[in-house]
Amino acid sequence: MSERSGIFAGDDPFALAQTWLAEAETSELNDPNAIALSTVDAEGLPNARMVLLKEIECHGDGQGGFVFYTNYGSAKGQEIAATGKAAFVMHWKSLRRQIRVRGITEKEEGPQADAYYASRSLKSRLGAWASDQSKPLSSRTSLMADVARITAEKGPNPPRPEFWGGIRITPVEIEFWADGAFRLHDRFRWRREGAQGAWDVQRLNP
Ligand SMILES: Cc1cc2nc3c(=O)[nH]c(=O)nc-3n(C[C@H](O)[C@H](O)[C@H](O)COP(=O)(O)O)c2cc1C
Repeated sequence: MSERSGIFAGDDPFALAQTWLAEAETSELNDPNAIALSTVDAEGLPNARMVLLKEIECHGDGQGGFVFYTNYGSAKGQEIAATGKAAFVMHWKSLRRQIRVRGITEKEEGPQADAYYASRSLKSRLGAWASDQSKPLSSRTSLMADVARITAEKGPNPPRPEFWGGIRITPVEIEFWADGAFRLHDRFRWRREGAQGAWDVQRLNP
């Protein structure tokens, strides 16, 4: 642990991830909280897509989680429901850094999800109702007709749909990577047995 200094210092990976994201917020062109989320389908074929990381939860004792929001019926939602696992990577071109996370998943569909849903624009809230995410769509016009129907039906204060909410990834592995001279990058991997254990940190070859 003692070898870690500078941007890698600290004994809580969630606090470190929050710090790195806060730095990226000042330097990145857009969407510093974008993550490439990876899941695996029933045949074991990996799948990846971007989503926005909305919460880095840091409990202050080395425990915490990463939360994003989506439609539970989407391809990713179904793959996560079947496996209970996901991974993601965030990469900041402006900082030349990445964070990789692998972990177990759970739905966040309580007050935290309600609060986040309520914080979104009305159009986004209605869009969540109207979009049968990842299912075939006959035309853009039919989606817009669904939005109009839902708008009339739900009014200005739509409740959070039951099929839409948060997914929390509780990591078993987090890697912090930063660009170094001559491709000799710095990598520190935090690992633990299970999702509540104590962290073991190792420097890895670039
Ligand atoms: C920058 C960016 C951010 C996105 N954020 C989200 C998000 O937070 N939640 C979401 O469901 N889809 C988001 N999407 C769309 C997803 O990439 C994807 O198209 C959609 O969720 C369907 O994925 P699936 O069929 O694998 O479930 C985002 C796309 C981009 C490019």
